[in-house]
Amino acid sequence: MKLFIDTADVAQIREAVSWGIVDGATTNPTHVAKTGRKPADVYREILDLVNGPVSLETVTLTAPEIIQEGRDLARLHSNVVVKVPLMKEGLKAVAALAAEGIKTNVTVTFSPLQALLAAKCGATYISPFVGRLDAVGHSGMDLVRQIKAIYANYGFKTEIIVAAVRHPAHVLEAALCGAGICTMSFEVLKQLYDHPLTDAGIEMFLQDWATVPKG
Ligand code: E4P
Repeated sequence: MKLFIDTADVAQIREAVSWGIVDGATTNPTHVAKTGRKPADVYREILDLVNGPVSLETVTLTAPEIIQEGRDLARLHSNVVVKVPLMKEGLKAVAALAAEGIKTNVTVTFSPLQALLAAKCGATYISPFVGRLDAVGHSGMDLVRQIKAIYANYGFKTEIIVAAVRHPAHVLEAALCGAGICTMSFEVLKQLYDHPLTDAGIEMFLQDWATVPKG
């Protein structure tokens, strides 16, 4: 499973990339707003750091505007994926961008039928928001499984990015259900390394090693 980092914080991206496990990045308007920086500067730095797909989100509401935004974003770098919210105008734009060879990530997805529509329009990626579904008493991972089944039934090539991940258990479930990609915050990415028995085990080895005669 590919691991993407979901943030616009360049320092976090730089550090996570240095760990050698980051396959791509996803941003959104909220992440960019949190940086307090100009989007163009943030995007350029992320694109310099990440050797893989980088989703940059459109913020207009009509297909012609989204298409123009998408073209402008795609011109920044060959790794740019244009992130488009799931709505009629958005999917019209996705089809037009796909016809131009521009990659898209359809976002804010909450139902399997929305995901079917996105695939029919030629979306490169679909982002089901699992954590936001769980938060309202639905199962985010059931949605991922349903999308996977529908795409397999019809041979759609659209790749699933499990998104709005809240904790390592979401990442585990995503991997167990065979999702191709999971995008997560810096904090969740960091937690994937952790296990208390690993810390205790390393400490014990080092204590024992200190008693070994040297020289
Ligand atoms: C994914 O691509 C989104 O940027 C992200 O996961 C949004 O979800 P959240 O704000 O609920 O975490």
